[in-house]
Amino acid sequence: MPHVNVSQHPLVKHKLTRLRDINTNPKMFRELVRELAILLAYEATADLLLTERTVPTPMGVAHGFELAEAVGLVPVLRAGLGMVEGVWEMMPSAEVWHIGLFRDERTLKPIAYYNRLPISPTVDVCLVLDPMLATGGSASATIDILKKWGAKKIKYVGLLAAPEGVAKLTHDHPDVPLYIAAIDERLNDIGYIVPGLGDAGDRQFGTG
Ligand code: PRP
Ligand code: URA
Repeated sequence: MPHVNVSQHPLVKHKLTRLRDINTNPKMFRELVRELAILLAYEATADLLLTERTVPTPMGVAHGFELAEAVGLVPVLRAGLGMVEGVWEMMPSAEVWHIGLFRDERTLKPIAYYNRLPISPTVDVCLVLDPMLATGGSASATIDILKKWGAKKIKYVGLLAAPEGVAKLTHDHPDVPLYIAAIDERLNDIGYIVPGLGDAGDRQFGTG
């Protein structure tokens, strides 16, 4: 699957293993989510367009570059929130557009509850931030919302995926590349990723 990029970076593998550990407390969990988001967003933004720019240095003139595309970070509430700050520090001019979705525990279907997108798109590239791709329903619904908004270039940045979620997302949105840290074995009968890391929202926010 050419659009499914599973990071092979040793730092990602190391931090993901610590993230999964049941003994990792919420403070450390939040730090790891933040750091992993930076590393994965670094990979996801490798093809951002640049324009040339010349700057004076103390020693002369340097020919360099600046970002030519406006980037939007789209965290999916709640768990995607923890992925924003680190990525934002790398791209301080990015806009942040929150999308609120939760899974109905019985049907596992996403229920949308928050979206304040303006009428037309204000960014060139959207990075959807959500740590967990389980059934794929939430990510697919988020991308539906962004496409209806008019977003043309969308990338999904997550931490852990189930094969079922990868299959759904690549089927529903074959134009959207995925940048993730790992694909696990399967979903269990209540829609959790196995071995996974548990509930990413609860582990970040100390709830549940
Ligand atoms: C989690 C996660 C994703 C979703 C993934 O959110 O952050 O948004 O589940 O599952 P899916 O691929 O089957 O749709 P959750 O619904 O638990 O909401 P929360 O982040 O508010 O706890
Ligand atoms: N959401 C989570 O937070 N964890 C899972 O394993 C599946 C969905």
